[in-house]
Amino acid sequence: MCGIVGAVAKRNIVSILVNGLLRLEYRGYDSAGLVVVHDAKLERVRSAGRVAELGQKSANTYGELGIAHTRWATHGVPSERNAHPHMSRDLIAVVHNGIIENYEELRTELTAQGYEFTSDTDTEVIAHLIHSHYAQGSLLIATQMALSQLVGAYAIGVVAADNPHQLIAARKGSPLLLGVGVGEHFVASDMSALLQVTKNVVYLEEGDVVEVNLANYRIFDQLGNSVQRQVHVSELDNDSVELGEYQHYMQKEIHEQPQALANTLESVCNSQSLVPGIFGAEANTIFPQVENILILACGTSNHSGQVAKYWLEEIAGIPCNVEIASEYRYRTSVPNPKTLVVTISQSGETADTLAALIHAKSTGHAFTLAICNVPESAIIRQSKLRLLTRAGPEIGVASTKAFTTQLAALFLLTLVMAKLRGRLDAEREQQFLHELRHLPAAVQKVLALEPKIAEMAKHFANKHHALFLGRGMHFPIAAEGALKLKEISYIHAEAYPAGELKHGPLALVDADMPVVSVAPNDTLLEKLKSNLQEVKARGGELFVFADAETHIKESEGVHILQMPEHAGFLSPILHTIPLQLLAYYVALEKGTDVDKPRNLAKSVTVE
Ligand code: G6P
Repeated sequence: MCGIVGAVAKRNIVSILVNGLLRLEYRGYDSAGLVVVHDAKLERVRSAGRVAELGQKSANTYGELGIAHTRWATHGVPSERNAHPHMSRDLIAVVHNGIIENYEELRTELTAQGYEFTSDTDTEVIAHLIHSHYAQGSLLIATQMALSQLVGAYAIGVVAADNPHQLIAARKGSPLLLGVGVGEHFVASDMSALLQVTKNVVYLEEGDVVEVNLANYRIFDQLGNSVQRQVHVSELDNDSVELGEYQHYMQKEIHEQPQALANTLESVCNSQSLVPGIFGAEANTIFPQVENILILACGTSNHSGQVAKYWLEEIAGIPCNVEIASEYRYRTSVPNPKTLVVTISQSGETADTLAALIHAKSTGHAFTLAICNVPESAIIRQSKLRLLTRAGPEIGVASTKAFTTQLAALFLLTLVMAKLRGRLDAEREQQFLHELRHLPAAVQKVLALEPKIAEMAKHFANKHHALFLGRGMHFPIAAEGALKLKEISYIHAEAYPAGELKHGPLALVDADMPVVSVAPNDTLLEKLKSNLQEVKARGGELFVFADAETHIKESEGVHILQMPEHAGFLSPILHTIPLQLLAYYVALEKGTDVDKPRNLAKSVTVE
């Protein structure tokens, strides 16, 4: 979703703003813009296209103070006039992420005061509100007064034409970071935008307002008190957000999975036994009290939760429910204080997941665990316990390495719970630890199937629909495969538990409907084989992702991809890889924008 970059320095900051926006492109956007303060004037450049176009348009622009934005349309169509920054009477400029819920009411009031609106956005009211309070001379106070009138979520950056060395930024409900340089400072919605200039970062807290000057900065909390916040040194590496030898970030991230899994499992694999402490010190007292588990997540992260349900119930014998966060937050549920609420999120900032967590806490759930890829994210900070996946930055909108590392983390949760409940003897624990240590190598072997999958993808390029089948813990993997395909190739894809085929979707099967089946060699295989016959008998073309031990023969209309090995309970992780590659190569065949699929955003920070 929308991205923000801001800078105040003693050098031209235009290229910093543009490069920062390029780093944020992955979040998804439809237009971009920047404003600099130069010679006591605001100079604004906007583009309804890509950031590269903004870069060209601003090539001759100079400024030592500025703010920039990539917009993902909410109020008003994607267009240059709706692109940020928004200005008030050539004096105030604002960039904004989030949604202002009372903007219509404010717009009416401001119009009555004589302000003219030139866009359809909710953001423009912020610019005029700040302007209306600016007569008093302090941009900080004017911004604070304006913020007190807003209902909704925001991260903002503000500059004024007559204030050449100062930037005001604030956050509530949307992430924002302060980058600390030497005699220069920066703000951004995401660390990856700042790695070009600094690794020193302050994670602003909910309700914080920061006054950023050349040599210093002052932070005020939501009550207006001046506060100190810790400066962290980011562990992110600029190289980790470079494309390197790959064609797309998605391809790079698929190939990074062995390393990402090894990193996520590192502490556990180096030890001889599993302890609750890997989820935080308090896990030692919380976990033994837990009676059941409630998993809340969206999108791909929800699919990892669905796999975990099978593991947790079968291996640990603990009841588990998985809910879509956006549904849970609005329904009346029956809380049990002994439930462990697990939120799963790559970004740690998905609005629905965060709201679901806050809702769960408000109903009396005190046991909360976040499985997340971003340290210091809102979801991490709202949770008592945490396990960080160490996938590294994920840039491609379609989630890949975040998903498999989430699965690894959830498997650890399963094993720790199983051990606490007396369902994991020492021998089995060692066996599982051994399998986890082997996992990165097993994934590497699956990646070697890439050329075969690229060939298979050619069969999909001219299709409009596809069906994905799986059973048991591989059903959520089929769902993830279908999601990947629809996200980046725009082919309509649905997943069904294979047993449901004859209860409806079989009616759709014909030669134009490819059917993809996740067919590992587990106890459900025989049943799955008869489902596959039903498809074949109706002229459907089958693509079977089978194990080494699966005895399904290649024949006319039946394409088999044999997996190198069978991984038992960890099989869902291995079976994810070919489905990611399939979606990737189908998208290549179709020529879609793999890393930035239309209409989608990487982090959905609004409802
Ligand atoms: C968006 C992304 C998905 C992601 C989902 C949840 O829809 O495009 O890839 O799975 O949000 O995001 P999260 O950061 O909470 O895992």
